[in-house]
Amino acid sequence: MLRALDGALKARAAKVIPNGMYGHESTAMLPASYPQYFSRAKGAYIWDVDGNRYLDFMCAYGPNLLGYGDPRVDAAAARQQVLGDALTGPSPVMVELAETLVSMVTHADWAMFCKNGTDATTMAKSVARAQTGRRIVIVAQGAYHGSAPWCTPNLTGTLPEDRAFLRTCLYNNVASLEAAVAAAGDDLAAIFASPFKHDAFFDQQALDPAYALRARELCDATGAMLVVDEVRAGFRLARDCSWSLAGVRPDLSSWGKGIANGYPLSVLLGSNRCRDGAGSIYMTGSFWFAAVPMAAAIETLRILRETHYIDHLQRIGERLRNGFEAAAERHGFELRQTGPVQIPQMLFNEDPDFRIGFAWAEEMLRRGIYIHPWHNMFLCAAMTEADMDVAIEAADASLASLAPRRAKLEAHPAITSRLRTRLEAGA
Ligand SMILES: Cc1ncc(COP(=O)(O)O)c(C=O)c1O
Repeated sequence: MLRALDGALKARAAKVIPNGMYGHESTAMLPASYPQYFSRAKGAYIWDVDGNRYLDFMCAYGPNLLGYGDPRVDAAAARQQVLGDALTGPSPVMVELAETLVSMVTHADWAMFCKNGTDATTMAKSVARAQTGRRIVIVAQGAYHGSAPWCTPNLTGTLPEDRAFLRTCLYNNVASLEAAVAAAGDDLAAIFASPFKHDAFFDQQALDPAYALRARELCDATGAMLVVDEVRAGFRLARDCSWSLAGVRPDLSSWGKGIANGYPLSVLLGSNRCRDGAGSIYMTGSFWFAAVPMAAAIETLRILRETHYIDHLQRIGERLRNGFEAAAERHGFELRQTGPVQIPQMLFNEDPDFRIGFAWAEEMLRRGIYIHPWHNMFLCAAMTEADMDVAIEAADASLASLAPRRAKLEAHPAITSRLRTRLEAGA
């Protein structure tokens, strides 16, 4: 595959952007052949700047829920664009969208809009502290809640003080949650949780409903706020908060990524239990009230309510999982596919430094399938059963080509150094 233009852009970027690229969309921790720059996208596909097309199992790391460039969503956004976007005050669509979200998400009585997932999780933390007048926030060890100083996984540039009142527990482990709550004493402001365990580099784990129920009980008993961070998984598992599937209502939930099918918007939803706290904080942004993404979100949510997209995601996700499992077996690999089929994580047994995963991803890429060797992936509603079959065929061919080379594979230097750092830190 030709990647001359991508290489040229990387070289230019290296001069004007620190490290050429930063954050989770950097290809620094992906196989060397992965393109950094993409020129366009449509439906389930993306095209790199050299014109190579890929079936995209990352879906922009989540925002692509219905398909890139969904014509219904884009038309709603274009109609609003003609009227106005970032104005001196919000457009009526803000009220309509808040009403829509409150009607869809059972625990929610109000909505506060922002731009990125980190804005929504950070606002959740502030609302919980404002409501309770307390300081301590419990998060699950290894869980990602964004890139602000209080939650970024890379501590460079942050202070210990930024996390002075952050405590951890083990996800799905009731005893460790109880111990963290007990240790917080009368200073517990909030318990944060992901809809399920979806930490990068690890197998995913379904939510144990007993953990969710106990988190609710502990918040009720202590007066703390329960926060579910839906930024990654929101509306891929349910048309409501994901924890509604376990019968548990949080006080706050943070959303982003897919809620406007790729238009920049995030939101904090909350119950009346913390309405006063929400009304007392000051958080805002120049673009938080822009109307175009809100119009896109209203249309996205209409489509989510009126179509069987979750059934579709589950059906194609199961087809993909079964097909990949059979391909792996056929070629003597043990592929662990964990988490919901619509947000799958794929890791190999006997692959502690991900060298098999990297080589597999590279083979898949060569065949026009964009997968990720250590981060969970995402399905979108524009994907079809035929797309899954193409991916399965590619998996079969990729693993066939990999099997004879298995003993000669080498680990990616960035991963080796990350693993060494974690080992040294005792993580
Ligand atoms: C669970 C979770 N919370 C928060 C965030 C932060 O969202 P953003 O990158 O939009 O700030 C992410 C992003 O991946 C996420 O997956």
